[in-house]
Amino acid sequence: MYFSCPICNKQLYYTNCNHSVACENGHSFDFAKEGYLYLLPPNKKHSHAPGDDREMVTARRRFLSAGYYQLFSDALNAASCRLLTNPVPVVLDAGCGEGYYTERLCATLQQSGRQPEIFGCDISKEAIRRAAKAAPNISFAVASSFSLPVPTASTDLLTDVFAPVVPEEFARVTKPGGYFLLAVPSARHLFGLKEILYEKPYENEEKDTEYTGFQFLERIPVRGKLSLTGQAVQDLFAMTPYFWKTPKEGSEKLKAVSNLQTEIGFDFLVYKRQST
Ligand SMILES: C[S@@+](CC[C@H](N)C(=O)[O-])C[C@H]1O[C@@H](n2cnc3c(N)ncnc32)[C@H](O)[C@@H]1O
Ligand SMILES: [Zn+2]
Repeated sequence: MYFSCPICNKQLYYTNCNHSVACENGHSFDFAKEGYLYLLPPNKKHSHAPGDDREMVTARRRFLSAGYYQLFSDALNAASCRLLTNPVPVVLDAGCGEGYYTERLCATLQQSGRQPEIFGCDISKEAIRRAAKAAPNISFAVASSFSLPVPTASTDLLTDVFAPVVPEEFARVTKPGGYFLLAVPSARHLFGLKEILYEKPYENEEKDTEYTGFQFLERIPVRGKLSLTGQAVQDLFAMTPYFWKTPKEGSEKLKAVSNLQTEIGFDFLVYKRQST
């Protein structure tokens, strides 16, 4: 069992005919019926349902499963295949949402002849519930990237697609010589959407960020164009942070839109965990 106890950090073991896991200190966690573990520490104060809510998760699953962002998933998979030399790689998708990238990465690594052990964590129970239901071969846990229930130096590759970055925690769990693959928006990602929402849309800031414990290796740019109609326009909007921050006037304008053309772009930043 890859996951560790969120209370005392000790290794978790299967118990109760594999229906639950427990550490040597007797902290025990049951698998939900969809097969995931709830590993948010009970003593920490979390809002009632942290992370993305049901509406956002549903919109994202509908949008992603239609294949609009497949070019990004393919690029993530190609980079991961190139980086991973271990035939049994341990991979963690931190802030995995409902598991679109996690699931496709697992399939690609398997097709490449590897036997990956793939894990996904997200603070949203709703997202993890969907992820676990869709991919029973992947182990998912409700957990925060700020305190991953994962042993130190256990992970060959940590991926993060548009989810919170916690450099110290990511450095802790990544093996020396392992990799951190971070997806960030390009300068003009969703510019067409922003042109509808805002009078003066700004380009996203592009920066090479250094993270302690990691060596920056390369930036992999992936660019595309989207032409959306109907529900897909609203789904895309619901997936973005603009959904919450756009003034009413802008979001009302978007509700009336039935066609949207926009540039899209992710940059994949590749980091290598330095040896300590
Ligand atoms: C923009 S979504 C990206 C989800 C997924 N990686 C994808 O691209 O489809 C950001 C995700 O980060 C999750 N999140 C927010 N705060 C988090 C935290 N502290 N720890 C783990 N996940 C978190 C949200 O619940 C949400 O699923
Ligand atoms: Zn424990």
